[in-house]
Formats: sequence, C-alpha cells, structure tokens
Amino acid sequence: MTRDQIINTPLCELIADYPFMVTFLENNTIQRFKDSKDSLITCVASITEDESEEWAIDKKNIMSTVFDFYTQMRALLGIKDEETVKSLTLVAGHNKSKELETFGEFTIHASEIIAIVGPTGSGKSRLLADIEWTADRDTPTNRQIKINGVVPDKKWRFASGNKLVAQLSQNMNFVMDLTVGEFIELHASSRMIEGIDEMSIKILDKANHLAGEPFTMDTPITSLSGGQSRALMIADTAILSHSPIVLIDEIENAGIDRKKALELLVSEEKVVLMATHDPILALMADKRIIIKNGGITDIIVTTDEEKAMLVELEKVDNYIQAKRTELRTGARLHMGKSLLEVING
Ligand SMILES: Nc1ncnc2c1ncn2[C@@H]1O[C@H](COP(=O)(O)OP(=O)(O)O)[C@@H](O)[C@H]1O
Ligand SMILES: [Mg+2]
Repeated sequence: MTRDQIINTPLCELIADYPFMVTFLENNTIQRFKDSKDSLITCVASITEDESEEWAIDKKNIMSTVFDFYTQMRALLGIKDEETVKSLTLVAGHNKSKELETFGEFTIHASEIIAIVGPTGSGKSRLLADIEWTADRDTPTNRQIKINGVVPDKKWRFASGNKLVAQLSQNMNFVMDLTVGEFIELHASSRMIEGIDEMSIKILDKANHLAGEPFTMDTPITSLSGGQSRALMIADTAILSHSPIVLIDEIENAGIDRKKALELLVSEEKVVLMATHDPILALMADKRIIIKNGGITDIIVTTDEEKAMLVELEKVDNYIQAKRTELRTGARLHMGKSLLEVING
C-alpha cells in the first residue's frame, strides 16, 4: 500500500488486512477508531481540539508517522509486498540502425518463461538491462517497460536492494574479501530474513547441487570457479529473493546444471526472461524473443513439435554430459549405444 492508500482506506478494512495497525492506533490513543468505517484521515479530522488536548493526541504526528509504522512493521514481520507483478510489457523501440521495432507491445504474464535468442552482440543483455532499469524511452534502444500495464514508479530504480527484479548477470566478478558463509549471511540479513543459519545451509546445499565441484561455507568467494560462483548466485537468488521478475543472462556457459538451475529459479508467480544460446533452455521457454542488430524482430511461441524435440535434445544432452563426466574422471570411452539408439531408447 502507498501512504495515500493507507490514510484513505476505511480503518476496519485496514485492520482486517493488517491487524498490527491496532497497535498504531493504541500508541496514539485513538484505538476507539479501530472498527470505524471511515479512513484514518477522516477519523483524525473528526478529533476535536478539546479531545486532542485531553488525550494528548498529536494529529500531525499521526499522519506523518503512519506510513513509517506500516512499512517497518511489515518488514519486521516479513510480510511480502502485495504489489504483485501480474504482467510486464515491452513497448517497441528501435534497433542499432534506429529502425523501429515492429512488434508494438509485447506483454509477458507472471509464470511465463521467455527466452531471448540472437547472435552475440545482438542486444540480448541490452534488453535485460532495459527491463532491469524499467526503461522509459531513456536507454539506447528507446524502449519502454510497463508493469501491470502502467509505467512504473521510478522509485524501483533507486530503491536499495531493488525488489522488483532479481538479475543473474553474465559476468560476475567477486571483488569482496568474504567467505561463502559471510556472503550469504550478508545477503540474508540485508533482506531481514529469520533463521539465517538454516537458510545459509540450504543455499550452500542447492549451490553444490548445481556446481560440479563442491565448496564450503569457509571457501573465499574470490576463489570460487566460474561455475561455483554462478551456482552460488543462482541458489542465493532462488532462495532469498522474492522478486517477481527474474532476469537470467546466459547461465549455460559456466559448467552448472542449467536445467536444475532454471527449475530452481522459476516459480509460479514469476516473470522469467532469459538470454540464452542453449537450445534446451530456449525450448523450455513458452516463447522466445528473436533479436538482431539490437532490435526485436520476432516473438515465437514454442510449438508442440518443438516441445517434443526438447525430449530428444535432453537425451542427447544427457549423453554428452555423461561422456564429459567420464572424460573428466580419466576414463577411456567405449562405443556403446549409437546416438540414434540413445534418442529412441
Ligand atoms: N537497439 C540498440 N541501440 C543501440 N545500441 C544497442 C542496441 N541494442 C544493443 N545495443 C548495444 O550493442 C552492444 C551489444 O549488445 P549486448 O546486449 O551486449 O549483446 P548480447 O548480449 O546479445 O551479446 C551493447 O553495447 C549494447 O548496449
Ligand atoms: Mg550478453
């Protein structure tokens, strides 16, 4: 809720949704309004001078502190933001040659997974950056981003720990001098999460599921391999972040189990966009955005035929992964099943 909504909602409704607001009324000796069908602003206005003197009611203070009380209590209680993202809309801009994109508007609904495909340098990361920044015709692409059909408040851009978007970027260079345990703790405590120890163990465990070589709480983050740091970031984001929009930039190149990673990151109510060169990830998406020369040229719905091919691709992929593991562990490879048999069997 915004401050305006809080002061204008009937108090009985506000308290039904947020029982802790009774405490606010009590703190200000105005608990007699707790069942009122009038809003806080109306109730406070109805307090007479005499009354306010007798009960030491500071009307101004009530109006100026109510929003802080609300936000602090919600944070303390770990209540998630109810401003859910139901949809994200891309409004066309232009490509690198300043030619207009032709898709007009494209709306992505919560729980959809959208892939972004195109050659290196074509503008995939740029598109993710437009979304992260909630571009408002003020980026090199001139695109605009709408959330739930409207241009979002610019506060999202600057809010510390922007909760709207969780981004996993292509290049992750840790420069901080922290252990894995300290890193997770830092993240968890900045999000006011209870049971940090348990949470940390869960994150490390998930990360180790994704990464090839295991690491521990005591491993310095600067000594993690590419795959390990990527795995840590994915597990961290999946478990700690409640962001309704998840942006993923090429998770495939880092030697992690990318399918598990995607499953971990994707959850029902989220909007997921992922730039990828990986056919398996691309076909796991519901739709894919095609980018050329900085512009979106097409948006393709994954067909049933393609979904069926995904099954074959996964078999081939498992086959290759198995060979990789064998090679890595020093084995000699032998002709087993032919690839055709792998696909058919
Ligand atoms: N529509 C555009 N107009 C101008 N510059 C663009 C546009 N799209 C992408 N770029 C720029 O092109 C470069 C490559 O884009 P990038 O998103 O990194 O490609 P990719 O992630 O597909 O490899 C970046 O410098 C990016 O800012
Ligand atoms: Mg890129």
